[in-house]
Amino acid sequence: SITSITASQRLDSRGKPTIQVRLTSAYGTFTSVVPSGASKGDYEAVELRDGDPSSYHGNSVLKAVENVNEVLGPRIIESGLVPATELSKIDKLMIDIDGTANKSRLGANAILGISMAAARAGAAARGLPLYEFIAHESGTSVEDYVTPVPFFNVLNGGDHSGNMMAFQEFMIAPVGARSFAEGVQFASETYAALKSAIEARYGRAATGIGDEGGFAPPISQPHEALDLLNEAIKSAGHSSQIKIGIDPASQSFFRDGQYDLGYKSDNAEMLDASAMMRMYHSLLSRYPIILLEDPFGQDDWDSFTNFNKDCSVELVGDDLLATNIERIKLAEDRKACNSILLKLNQIGTVSEALQAAKEAFAADWSVFVSHRSGETTDDFIADLTVGLRAGHLKSGAPCRGERVVKYNRLMDIEDDLELRGIPHIYAGVNFRSANRL
Ligand code: PGA
Ligand code: ZN
Repeated sequence: SITSITASQRLDSRGKPTIQVRLTSAYGTFTSVVPSGASKGDYEAVELRDGDPSSYHGNSVLKAVENVNEVLGPRIIESGLVPATELSKIDKLMIDIDGTANKSRLGANAILGISMAAARAGAAARGLPLYEFIAHESGTSVEDYVTPVPFFNVLNGGDHSGNMMAFQEFMIAPVGARSFAEGVQFASETYAALKSAIEARYGRAATGIGDEGGFAPPISQPHEALDLLNEAIKSAGHSSQIKIGIDPASQSFFRDGQYDLGYKSDNAEMLDASAMMRMYHSLLSRYPIILLEDPFGQDDWDSFTNFNKDCSVELVGDDLLATNIERIKLAEDRKACNSILLKLNQIGTVSEALQAAKEAFAADWSVFVSHRSGETTDDFIADLTVGLRAGHLKSGAPCRGERVVKYNRLMDIEDDLELRGIPHIYAGVNFRSANRL
């Protein structure tokens, strides 16, 4: 059983404070560090910050740290619950102690830190790699595994960069690779080609990167980004293997019922939902796009539902769903999307995230696992993706430590499965139905 749970304040990839949790049991000490979003949706669980202007501009998380050290930790230890078999009970206990619907009293950051560390402790107690422990917890196969297609965000815009591009993420997905490791290679080669293309067109000063490690050249229109990607994919020689995903994160530029593509400049560029719809259809017809996330705002249900009719691509709900079962059920009723973006800190416990994935799979949706723009070197989501048989994940560019740590862990897992002689296949073009492979 658990003998100690302590938290401390550490930094995330944007240099902002976040929470680190250390949990000790008979099997060792297990650490987790919690990520943080920039384009957060209103339906996410609450990340507790102190709001004291004299400390980290109000961003310190000392209250959340205290909630782990003084409230949650002691209560969990006292309960005698064991991570090996009772992770969901530990999570439930924390939800009950917090007592709010959105974890706003004790903080989803405090609660998630414990939940992730407890999952690691549970895996160790059972002598399992974390991905296998998660496979048991979520009821997927442990006889064989699917390694995911990585979606690399190589062009950053929106709230993640200083350029005038309203759309937040342009991702490359090596669906035509033969293994996860080969997918990483194709993406890294394309990333390097993209840097050359940007340098040739906009000069060397334009090759700086945004929050998720992607480039942020001085472009503002989606077609400029997609033309750059096409050029890079072609010059790297991967046209037949790499496809494109886009996350406009359109809630970030939704203003008074309209979408302002000029929201980062002085010039408004207002489009209503039907103009947005036409733009997306035009982009889908001209570029090899296979995934579109949050094309509309978090409450623009009708647009999602309309777009989802005869939708040829994966239509992912991020801010729309916030990894929240109630929101997923609403979206099912309205047929608003066909995939869920799964972010642990949107809901705040590992077991609730597994529940959300289960609900999505039951509706025949796909599950797309995600990092946050403010990340840490914690690689939990790599194991989560494999354990859930989710078939794809996004963790930013093939660049920057907090991004590549997830991709590197996935290459470790691929090697590990090979060494253990456990059958495994790369999801490839079947990334949307990996849970049925
Ligand atoms: P965030 O962005 O982590 O800044 O919310 C990620 C996303 O929108 O998918
Ligand atoms: Zn998103």
